[in-house]
Amino acid sequence: MTPETRLPFPQSDALQNPPDVRRLQAQGPIHRVRTAVGDEAWLVTGYDDVRRLLDDGRLGRSHPAPETAARTGESALFGGPLGDFATEHADHARMRSLIQPHFSPRRMRALRPRVETLTSGLLDALAGHGSPADLHAELAVPLPILVICELLGVPYADRDRFRAWSEDAGNTRDHARSERGLGELYAYGLRLVAAKRETPGDDVISRLCATDGLADPVTDEEAAELSMGVLFAGHETTVARIGLGAMALLGNRDQWQALVADPGLVPAAVEEILRAPGSGDGGMPRYARTDFDVGGVTIRAGDLVLLDISAANHDPAAFADPDLVDVTRSGSGSAAAHLTFGHGARYCLGAPLARIELDVVFTQLARRFPSLELATDVGEVPLRHDTLTGGPAELRVRW
Ligand code: HEM
Repeated sequence: MTPETRLPFPQSDALQNPPDVRRLQAQGPIHRVRTAVGDEAWLVTGYDDVRRLLDDGRLGRSHPAPETAARTGESALFGGPLGDFATEHADHARMRSLIQPHFSPRRMRALRPRVETLTSGLLDALAGHGSPADLHAELAVPLPILVICELLGVPYADRDRFRAWSEDAGNTRDHARSERGLGELYAYGLRLVAAKRETPGDDVISRLCATDGLADPVTDEEAAELSMGVLFAGHETTVARIGLGAMALLGNRDQWQALVADPGLVPAAVEEILRAPGSGDGGMPRYARTDFDVGGVTIRAGDLVLLDISAANHDPAAFADPDLVDVTRSGSGSAAAHLTFGHGARYCLGAPLARIELDVVFTQLARRFPSLELATDVGEVPLRHDTLTGGPAELRVRW
């Protein structure tokens, strides 16, 4: 069977669920597609199947013969297989056990006042700048970077450099650039680790380095890899989500007004802005570790399987009127059932932090800028197509 559908699916704007996804979903839960680089893959679009398979040990990120594996794109990080096929499960378990303690909901709650202070400082600057302004440059970009820098103990002054390397590493179209960015980021991580070993601070990298007494201490290489992994995973994702969230709420005036009128809706609105924006990129890549059947098809060991989180978040079987932005969803179809942070064994370790940042941002924005509106139509907001996270490149607003 030759797949007729090729990724990415066209979208008219970042809030829209691509019509091709709706068409595929109506046909069934799993489909043969071609990736952006022409390789064949399975695309899973049904909520129940995506949720189950996100937590299924028969799928992994590694491949026994990586050079022959189907690819989604040119990114050295997510374009193809990652890690060692023989040791993937143990390596992943160790990574989580080393990172998770530093990002527990309790630790993150203690960080909230600091996130509030950083946000209100940025909003003071926004007010000082005056209307109109670029919310992306003034708030969405600096906040997650300030937060992750403080947490990890990464100098904020280095932000332009590590952002450029992260962006290169996440480039989906140019493999050499992605490899170069990843290499630079890792070398930077090694320099930071050396500095923290010399002069430890009150931060995550210093604590990762302080494991010398353990039976299996963290090496410099491992500490650099873990820290840069968190730095990479923990800023552009949130930058994109603040921008997409502002688009979703300001682009649906009644929803913004509901939030301004009732700040108690912010936590539910945060879940809805995590759920509602659509994506046509195909979703989380996995490789089958063994043959198995799903949705009436047989997946063969080594096959590329794309778990389409955005499609799942718009499955009408799971969310009523999925294409509507509705900050009052409740019950079994409540927005919090979204899969935007993944599910199960690989569930996002930064989810508690990302939720706090989004909650603080939209609480303060609604209180201080109730008349905030988009200065352009949603469909005219320039979007980033060459990065893993997408989201707006600029977000003109006025008040
Ligand atoms: C709104 C912002 C964010 C989104 C949408 C997001 C999304 C995700 C998703 C979907 C996964 C699962 C990947 C998979 O199943 O393979 C993931 C994993 C991860 N995220 Fe996030 N993330 C966000 C923010 C953050 C932040 C702020 C941090 C760190 C401070 C972070 C750290 C991580 C880490 C370390 C993993 C790897 C977990 C594992 O492989 O076990 N993320 N994230």
